[in-house]
Amino acid sequence: MIIVLLGPPGAGKGTQGERIAERLGIPKIATGDVLRDAIRNGTEQGLAAKAYMDRGDLVPDSVILGIMKDALSAPATARGAILDGVVRTVPQAEGLTSLVASLGRKVDKVLLFDIGDDELVKRLSGRTVCDKCQTPYRDREPGTTCPKCGGTLVRRPDDEPEAIRTRLAVYRAQTEPVIKWAREHDLDVREIDATGDLDDITDRAMKALDK
Ligand code: AP5
Repeated sequence: MIIVLLGPPGAGKGTQGERIAERLGIPKIATGDVLRDAIRNGTEQGLAAKAYMDRGDLVPDSVILGIMKDALSAPATARGAILDGVVRTVPQAEGLTSLVASLGRKVDKVLLFDIGDDELVKRLSGRTVCDKCQTPYRDREPGTTCPKCGGTLVRRPDDEPEAIRTRLAVYRAQTEPVIKWAREHDLDVREIDATGDLDDITDRAMKALDK
């Protein structure tokens, strides 16, 4: 089962993606996490992506489609995958659709996270993430220890106010058109209310996925 998570920055795609992946027993792949790993490891891909990411812009489509090809051809995703933040432009949606078709698979569902801008800004400006396992937290200070893996919690450079503004504008201009594209191309788009209690949102997501 291939599930695409779509929604603005801070909507909880990473948080819920992890939970959905666990419930369905398939891996979660987040292009943002892959790129941050590449930056940490100082690879060529990471160096090329860093400037775009830090200011809140999108990384070029060709880079994203390369990551997707590697991920979806790997044995780990043979039973399916949760794709978190992978599709952010119409060319990426087109590329992913042809990629999965060439692998004899299809995108089963698109889960759209619905949430207002005020809540997004509040979540992103209060977020810390583990520098090792990338788990996002709220109400935990930078410099404290990740309870999951022992890494250190940090603020993401793109969670600074200026970058948050850019990311929201980029989402409106480049990612929202993907929703229309998906509906016009008969993808099964299911929308969920992404506000409130974490467990309630996971339940809503599972129900929307018919699970
Ligand atoms: P990426 O890492 O994917 O960032 P994003 O889409 O901006 O999403 P976030 O990770 O900020 O938010 P989220 O929706 O996962 O929310 P989270 O669960 O953390 O991408 C970063 C950058 O990489 C992009 O800007 C771009 O440059 C590049 N990139 C990545 N993919 C790309 C692509 N396909 N094409 C081009 N470029 C790409 O939750 C947010 C916070 O809220 C956390 O603190 C969390 O604890 C808290 N929270 C979660 N749920 C709740 C709740 N119910 N109530 C209260 N707080 C909550």
